[in-house]
Amino acid sequence: MEQSSGNKINTAVFISGRGSNLKSLIKYNNKKNSKILIKLIISNNSSAKGLIYAKKSKIKTYVTNFKNKNLSEKNLLKKLINNKINLICLAGFMKILTADFIKKFKKPILNIHPSLLPKYKGLNTHKRVIKNKEKFSGPTVHIVSSKLDSGKIILQKKVKILKYDNEKSLEKKVLKAEHKLYPKAIEKLLISL
Ligand code: GRF
Repeated sequence: MEQSSGNKINTAVFISGRGSNLKSLIKYNNKKNSKILIKLIISNNSSAKGLIYAKKSKIKTYVTNFKNKNLSEKNLLKKLINNKINLICLAGFMKILTADFIKKFKKPILNIHPSLLPKYKGLNTHKRVIKNKEKFSGPTVHIVSSKLDSGKIILQKKVKILKYDNEKSLEKKVLKAEHKLYPKAIEKLLISL
């Protein structure tokens, strides 16, 4: 794969809200030995809290609201091509990309999901995990395919659920694991390309 900035891979991160995974990816990006160069941060929501991390680190942003999905995706593709983006990392991005977008982008798109996929696809993960009295949960980084939370799994991290855990405490534990897992999964993916 062509990696246009030295040997780092030009990356776009897509967010919709809080942006704690974006923050951890920026931290990774800033390491000398990191394999990515975050060139673009995309949001479907102009008031996404995570956009402050983009501002702080002076990374370009692009907001498109997805009200007209086809138009938003068309404009996004142009942006991605103009910025020579070779990897997309979805990090709490709440819109579902179309099969057409995934096909036209041609390069890998990663997502992080807060459960041990294929279990607990979709929303309200932690609530369902607690309700079912699972012993373990944890994040998964996977390739985005046209089916929700179903693409090839790159890396997972098991987190133990203790008796006193509830939805909130589990979210906190899993999120902490997410922040470590995403950079590792990126490195694993890039080695395999
Ligand atoms: C994370 O739990 C991630 O796994 C899920 O959405 C949440 C985003 O959190 N896809 P943040 O915006 O990165 O803080």
